[in-house]
Amino acid sequence: MWAVEVEDLHKIYPGGVKALNGVSFKVSKGEVYSLLGPNGAGKTTTMKIIATLLKPTSGRAMVMGIDVTSNPDSVRKIIGYVPQDLSADDELTGIENVVLQARLYGIPKDKAVKRARELLEMVGLGEAANRLVKSYSGGMRRRLELAMGLVNEPELLILDEPTLGLDVQSKLSLWEHIERLKKEKKVTILMTTHYMDEADKLSDRIAIIDRGKIVAEGSPQELKAKVGGDVIMIKISSDPLKVVEKLRMIDGVRGVDVIEGNIRIKVNVAETMLPEILKVLGSVDGRIESISITRPTLDQVFIEYTGRMFRDEEPGDFRRQMMIWRRKR
Ligand SMILES: Nc1ncnc2c1ncn2[C@@H]1O[C@H](COP(=O)(O)OP(=O)(O)O)[C@@H](O)[C@H]1O
Ligand SMILES: [Mg+2]
Repeated sequence: MWAVEVEDLHKIYPGGVKALNGVSFKVSKGEVYSLLGPNGAGKTTTMKIIATLLKPTSGRAMVMGIDVTSNPDSVRKIIGYVPQDLSADDELTGIENVVLQARLYGIPKDKAVKRARELLEMVGLGEAANRLVKSYSGGMRRRLELAMGLVNEPELLILDEPTLGLDVQSKLSLWEHIERLKKEKKVTILMTTHYMDEADKLSDRIAIIDRGKIVAEGSPQELKAKVGGDVIMIKISSDPLKVVEKLRMIDGVRGVDVIEGNIRIKVNVAETMLPEILKVLGSVDGRIESISITRPTLDQVFIEYTGRMFRDEEPGDFRRQMMIWRRKR
């Protein structure tokens, strides 16, 4: 049995926004599976459907073999959901938030308090348990929300952009907690992120999602292997299309395309190919404005499958900041 099985999900929001356009994937028990994609790709929509908070327009989703649409109550009992947006109450203390969450699951008061203490200890908030959440840093708040997602000892933990907008230090600390959870609790984790490094570091498997569709899937290694060797990106001042054919003829060049005005050349080893490539570029009008060489990365995987750069405009972060700001007033 799969921990999560999603089949051909479509979602059209009222007003006509087509958020999901046939999303399918399967997650094994004990796996960390990430949906990686830019803002607006459909990650949150997918998570909300699996967490029973949103009905799909068509298609189906199952958690541990239970259908989320026909049997939402049973699904809710076995999942923990940490939403992208703020979920802890600012005006309560850390421990009050966790206890409240536990009470919502029908856990008796004594047990709820004991469990809350353990969980807060686990996420490194033992000392801060009795402080009001509004005094927490972004990283502390996210760890609190992680603890809240674990009160019912879920078989599946859903994390929607767990480190969105956090500084590097807090991000690393949260990664450690997620990795420990995986090791020690054997919980299945389904998460979303638009950070390449995060997906790369934490996931057993990744699905790259773009405009409501999964465009590639595999382990981080598999995905990077699909790109192959090195990638050379060159920007020239003249029309790149004029040199593409010439570059393709070079022995050892595995592929050339033009991505948003940049020439993208796939080769096995960039260093040995550069002299020949520069010679060809020297034979055409215009100068070279920039050159960069990258080893296979998930960024390149994204470009490979979508023909576009993975751009991080972060409206999400902005919205988050606004919300924190509003709540503080
Ligand atoms: N409640 C809603 N009503 C209308 N459109 C929505 C709603 N929620 C999300 N969308 C749109 O659906 C698309 C997917 O959004 P979302 O699932 O939040 O993407 P992601 O989490 O990958 O950033 C976006 O175009 C977004 O603007
Ligand atoms: Mg989202």
